Amino acid sequence: MRSIDDLDVGGRRVLVRVDFNVPLGEDAQGRLRVADDTRIRAALPTIEELRGRGARLVLVSHLGRPHGRREERLSLAPVADTLRELTGARVTLAPAVVGEQVRALAEQLRDGEILLLENVRFEAGEERNDPELARALAELADVYVDDAFGAAHRAHASNEGIAHLLPNAGGRLLEREVSTLNGILENPAPPLVAIVGGAKVADKIAVIDRFLELADVLIIGGAMCFPFLAAQGHAVGDSLCSGEDSEHARRALAKAAGRREDGGGYARLELPVDLVIGERLAGDAEHRVLDGLDVPDGWMGLDIGPATAERYSREIARAGTVFWNGPMGAFELAPFAQGTLAVAEAVAQAKGLTVVGGGDSAAALARFGLDGDVDHLSTGGGATLELVEGHQLPGVQALDGAGVAR
Ligand code: 3PG
Repeated sequence: MRSIDDLDVGGRRVLVRVDFNVPLGEDAQGRLRVADDTRIRAALPTIEELRGRGARLVLVSHLGRPHGRREERLSLAPVADTLRELTGARVTLAPAVVGEQVRALAEQLRDGEILLLENVRFEAGEERNDPELARALAELADVYVDDAFGAAHRAHASNEGIAHLLPNAGGRLLEREVSTLNGILENPAPPLVAIVGGAKVADKIAVIDRFLELADVLIIGGAMCFPFLAAQGHAVGDSLCSGEDSEHARRALAKAAGRREDGGGYARLELPVDLVIGERLAGDAEHRVLDGLDVPDGWMGLDIGPATAERYSREIARAGTVFWNGPMGAFELAPFAQGTLAVAEAVAQAKGLTVVGGGDSAAALARFGLDGDVDHLSTGGGATLELVEGHQLPGVQALDGAGVAR
């Protein structure tokens, strides 16, 4: 993959694929606004550097999943407003993704100006990786830069397809994401402590498997600990615990207890030693600390308990490298937020390199005001997990640096 250092961009049109798939909310007047601009700010280093070098930027992103139909509530108009505020640049929102009018707007761009195309998923060809759409996008620019790490696990026209048609490079965010994540997988400062939480084992089983192999300690939290506890013979009451998840958990426990082919061991698997249980998943539900692991009938486990939080925090403090993905409990509800808060604080204070993989853990950090206190907060959700699982990301693979001069 080439970097933008290798591209000649002055006075040229550069199409930059960004991941501006951000949450929206309504302001007091009922107008849609960007509710969390993290992903937009994360793309600024590339945008500002290219503008500083005299590039004319055509930005492309998806927002939500309109699946080929124009949906006004998924227009990038609120994103254009935020981008204007953050860059102070002239930002024009194109009326569509491609077409004559869009091409004319791209041709009118002056050095340092930005044309933001409409939501690329308004085009049916995007998710199909349609070569026609890739060609129409490529015709808008001279060079292609991919900075959309969060979408790199998709092989779509605006990231995979277009890379084969233009001289290309990875943007600063994409570079940083890939090198940081690969760095902790390939050469972590020991001990590597991985914390995996969330609701379902099935969603994260490949991540759990990989960390059993790579990490020194693998900490499990969130509702996904119940299939593990059930497999150890504990009662789980009304906690989330499907048969499929229990089967995954049983296999992971067996693997953790076994030896590797080379005679070495797998990661030490850490499970809760106490829990916070509630009568239902609600902020006003009756709840209490369960000093033990057998959840009574009529109750559900909704957070790790205080003794567990302390143990997990100690492991995190001792780590040379920490990777965290997934909350420890239903942190959106105050009675069940303490476990995730404790882990977030431990990660924020850790001396080792701290990497947090997108999605809910990033939201938790932001909620606790700790998002500035980790070394790397990944902008990827699915992309981060796929990289951790050991998969190649099609968006990154397509960046062979060659491209085809038009
Ligand atoms: C994300 O939010 O994870 C990325 O923007 C990808 O979105 P998608 O899952 O709709 O492809």
